[in-house]
Amino acid sequence: MGYFRENVERAKGYEPGFQPKQKDMIKLNTNENPYPPSPNVTKVLAEISAEQLRRYPDPLGNKFRRAAAEVNDVEPGYIMCCNGGDELLSMAFRAFCDQNRPVAYPVPTYSLYPVLATLQNCEAIEIPFDDEFNLPPRLVGTGAALTIVCNPNAPTGSFISVEEIASLADELEGGLLIDEAYVDFAEENCARLVRDFDNVIILRSLSKGYSLAGIRFGYAIAKPELIAGLMKVKDSYNVDAIAIAVATAAIRDQQYFKENVEKVKRDRQHLTEQLRALKFDVPTSHGNFVLAKNNNCKASEIYDKLVQRNIYVRFFDLPGLGDKLRITVGTAKQNDRLIAALKEILSN
Ligand SMILES: Cc1ncc(COP(=O)(O)O)c(C=O)c1O
Repeated sequence: MGYFRENVERAKGYEPGFQPKQKDMIKLNTNENPYPPSPNVTKVLAEISAEQLRRYPDPLGNKFRRAAAEVNDVEPGYIMCCNGGDELLSMAFRAFCDQNRPVAYPVPTYSLYPVLATLQNCEAIEIPFDDEFNLPPRLVGTGAALTIVCNPNAPTGSFISVEEIASLADELEGGLLIDEAYVDFAEENCARLVRDFDNVIILRSLSKGYSLAGIRFGYAIAKPELIAGLMKVKDSYNVDAIAIAVATAAIRDQQYFKENVEKVKRDRQHLTEQLRALKFDVPTSHGNFVLAKNNNCKASEIYDKLVQRNIYVRFFDLPGLGDKLRITVGTAKQNDRLIAALKEILSN
């Protein structure tokens, strides 16, 4: 045995998507936004002085909280800033779960959840989706201290209506974390549920809709009582001064954000149609990615052949996903190059 806690020794750790650095590549593997952040972000970055960095940042990121509160029609006390949505997930596991307090979530879903469960040494109750990715009724009555529903779900892109999630929140005894990292690309979101339910925490990310994966910024929306509990497990200065300034500039530019989201949604539709024409099964996606299964060629083989052509998509060698590829929606030009490469691969 090594020096670590037994469950840490046992953990494999999360495997982030590959970050290739070649110049002429097409990177559709980690659901980044293909468009740059708001021009206001560039302006704010240019105005940051080295002197500003001498002091600690605002521990609560109040400037951002006020901006996010306006966008979501809640009070700033309902918002907590996080170092990426992933940090909120870590905080929720630490605040809610232990050896006697399990987590539950439908599968397949974001592969970070089981990793965090192992690190927190809590049982993970995994309940399979049906073939249409409906909310599994068995999520009620698990006795979990924390239930997570990723909506839109990754990597399936499927979406569960706000009404269904509201009924789940009502029936659960523990906390319900709704992971809305991809909700910017969906038609509706669960923000309004935080008014009615004191067990609901919503996760948001600025990595996808706001093109800011590089600064690591996300936030929680929940009743102030839940926010206060989560704050007990947060690092004092969990978001840095540059990130607060940049994230605030981005979320304040709703017009630019909405224009980019519309472009991604339009291209998602086109990509889906083109993949279906190539005989891929592609469920309707509500995220900035699609999940595609080809019945004639193995996903791992297509993946390798795309890499040979400098095109990166995501392949998960996991139960239920080993025959599928998750493809981020790129620019129209990137999507066209992907489709051309797939045509070539599948015709050989
Ligand atoms: C389902 C889901 N939730 C949360 C996150 C966290 O995003 P970030 O930490 O970049 O805000 C991701 C990132 O890919 C994700 O796929």
